[in-house]
Amino acid sequence: MKIEAIVNQSLLAAINPLQMTKILVIHGPNLNLLGSREPEVYGSDTLASINQSLAKLADKRSIRLETFQSNIEGEIVNSIHQAAANQVQFVIINPAAFTHTSVAIRDAFLATDLPFIEVHLSNVFAREEFRTHSYLSDIAKGVIIGFGKSSYLLAFEAALIACKKPNAKRK
Ligand code: DQA
Repeated sequence: MKIEAIVNQSLLAAINPLQMTKILVIHGPNLNLLGSREPEVYGSDTLASINQSLAKLADKRSIRLETFQSNIEGEIVNSIHQAAANQVQFVIINPAAFTHTSVAIRDAFLATDLPFIEVHLSNVFAREEFRTHSYLSDIAKGVIIGFGKSSYLLAFEAALIACKKPNAKRK
C-alpha cells in the first residue's frame, strides 16, 4: 500500500497545516446584529454562536476556517479577492441584502472563479418579492435557505463534499 494512502487528513494537517482545505465564510450586512435583529425572522442565534459552531465542525474535520463579516460591499469584494490570492478553496456566503443588489460581488466571484455556496437564514421565497431575486444564485455551486443557523452548518457539509470533487472549480 502506498504511504500516501494511509495518511489521513488529520495527520496531514499535523504535518503540514498549509495543506489543509481552507474555507472562508462571509457574512454580509446587518448579520452582526443577529440575535437581536428581527428574531421572528432570523432566530435567536448570534453571529458569534454561528461562527463557534462552524469552528467546531471545522476542527473535527481538520479544515482551516476563516470567518468575516462586513456591512460594506467593497470590503466583501476585497475579501473574495484576498481569498483567491490566499488559496482558499471554497467560500460560504450569506450576502444578506447585497444578494438582491450587488453586481460587484457577483463579478468578484466571476473574476476569481472561487466556488461558493449561497446561504440564507430565512426562506427568502416566503418573504417580499424583491428578496426572490439573487445576483449570485445562478453562479453558485448551490443555495441553502430557510434553516436558520443550520443553513450554515449544512452549507459547510456541502462545501466539504464539493471540495472532494477532483475539479472544485466554480462550475
Ligand atoms: C438574509 C435574507 C436577505 O433578504 C436579508 O436582506 C438579510 C438576511 C437571510 O439570511 O435570510 O439580511 O440573507
